[in-house]
Amino acid sequence: MSQNSQTSRFDDDRTPAFAMPPSDLPDILVNSVVGDYEIVRELGRGGMGVVYQARQISLDRWVALKVLPVEMAADQEYVDRFLREARAAAQMNHPNIIQVYDAGIFDRHYFFVMEFVVGRNLAQIVQDQGPMDEKTALQVMWQVSLGLAYAHGMGVVHRDIKPDNIIISEDGVAKIGDLGLAKWEGGGSDHSLTVDGSVMGTPNYISPEQIRAYHDLDGRTDIYSLGATLFYVLAGRPPFVAPSAMEIMAMHLAEKVPPVRSFNPRISSATEKLIQYMMEHKREERPSDMLELGDMIGAILDDVHAEGAGMRDVIPRELHLADKKGAVAVEEHLERGVWGVFAALVGLLLVLCLVVVWLALHRGGRKTAIEETPSDGQSFTHPAAPARPPFVAK
Ligand SMILES: Nc1ncnc2c1ncn2[C@@H]1O[C@H](COP(=O)(O)OP(=O)(O)OP(=O)(O)O)[C@@H](O)[C@H]1O
Ligand SMILES: [Mg+2]
Repeated sequence: MSQNSQTSRFDDDRTPAFAMPPSDLPDILVNSVVGDYEIVRELGRGGMGVVYQARQISLDRWVALKVLPVEMAADQEYVDRFLREARAAAQMNHPNIIQVYDAGIFDRHYFFVMEFVVGRNLAQIVQDQGPMDEKTALQVMWQVSLGLAYAHGMGVVHRDIKPDNIIISEDGVAKIGDLGLAKWEGGGSDHSLTVDGSVMGTPNYISPEQIRAYHDLDGRTDIYSLGATLFYVLAGRPPFVAPSAMEIMAMHLAEKVPPVRSFNPRISSATEKLIQYMMEHKREERPSDMLELGDMIGAILDDVHAEGAGMRDVIPRELHLADKKGAVAVEEHLERGVWGVFAALVGLLLVLCLVVVWLALHRGGRKTAIEETPSDGQSFTHPAAPARPPFVAK
């Protein structure tokens, strides 16, 4: 896939994906019904929206509903465009991407309805448990590279890859969230929520070209942000730390990413080099696409961890269950085998018993004959004994 074909559907966008804090968002939505959705509880709020757990009434299923702080535009053309691009996001279907189901406008706010993922995002995992071990982190990144390769192939660049937007489901599947939504979180050029060029939200994972507000962003901006995310999960802190967002962005533009092993010496030098490669300032010097990145991650898993990325970690739950059925079948097969051997042994034992009994009986007959051999050495046949040779079966 050429780089040109990777440009985003949203490449006419003019503002980086930052927005006002969602202080004005409705927090009274819990227990209310919005269209087909009964809102049950708030799951959390990021820099750019509030996510609720909701029940879709018609289909009786759990969903996540994200309300964005972008005020609905008066002009119909803008609304149409939002809905059109939401439909494009909903076209994407991949096990490593949180599925978008629906989008709409409520009380002058845009909202998205998504697959509800039971799990924790990477930021929560690192906050709860500290840095991840390298192998797990690489397996997660490998799954994310698959999801992003798919999205880039569809012409969609995420542009807001960060630990908070990658949820690990309780089955161990990495799910990329907010794909295709970055544009709407930031607002379009006419509806920008950036304040005098100042940036709200986190600049910890932003690429140099996004800071410079390039118009022709492609998949390599996600590679940079994923590199910064990998740094975070291994080091337990973002690559650049400074008191203000502006200083952090200046570091993204001017400084090389510090060696991750200076924060976590257990990391392999191969992974440290991979992060540096992903976070090159010039996008031409990074991996060219997610497929190349996925191959590199796979190679480190092979070389350093002596095994490839575990397929069990990327397959959906139903397949896990199918797999379990397979395992049960194998166990049943093995059990049948054990019983077969047991039955054969019992049979053999039975035959042996019969032979012993038979021998005992016939040995008894012969003994009598010998016992009755006269001391003079002359043998004779016992009158009661049958006229046949001993030990011959009847
Ligand atoms: N589809 C989902 N299923 C379950 N939980 C979700 C889903 N989407 C988001 N969340 C959770 O909701 C919380 C808020 O998500 P949200 O996307 O608003 O915040 P964020 O990712 O930190 O910031 P941003 O607005 O920049 O994306 C996070 O804890 C996130 O893991
Ligand atoms: Mg998010």
